[in-house]
Amino acid sequence: MGLMGLIDLREHDELEEGDDPNAAFLMRMMIGSEHQGQGFGTSAMHHAISWARARGNSAFQTSVVPGNHAALRFYVSLGLNRTGRVVEDEIELTMGL
Ligand SMILES: CC(C)(COP(=O)(O)OP(=O)(O)OC[C@H]1O[C@@H](n2cnc3c(N)ncnc32)[C@H](O)[C@@H]1OP(=O)(O)O)[C@@H](O)C(=O)NCCC(=O)NCCS
Repeated sequence: MGLMGLIDLREHDELEEGDDPNAAFLMRMMIGSEHQGQGFGTSAMHHAISWARARGNSAFQTSVVPGNHAALRFYVSLGLNRTGRVVEDEIELTMGL
């Protein structure tokens, strides 16, 4: 149905300058095209954010390619905001936990 990949940056030893070392980072997020628009992505995100909060991460972060307006709206609707950084050509988003 879909795929979600999360990294706890506290367990990751190759951080870039400016990365939040206590954040959880969403690396991959995709719902199969035939299953999109039915609430599964929102539900998965709520679960992932709760998982990070329960683990004690300070923030929940992801990044999105500039042209992916649907994904950007999706993340903003869930409470993530732009950090102002562009990392590896992607817009970085974060929410405090
Ligand atoms: C972005 C994505 C993860 C959202 O998952 P989803 O299960 O389709 O989302 P939901 O059904 O929970 O819908 C959440 C909101 O996103 C909107 N939405 C979802 N897919 C959309 C699309 N393709 N185009 C426009 N809006 C979309 C929904 O309308 C909904 O908005 P609403 O609450 O105002 O009605 C999913 O569409 C996807 O995998 N897209 C392709 C891969 C991708 O872009 N991943 C993100 C990379 S950073």
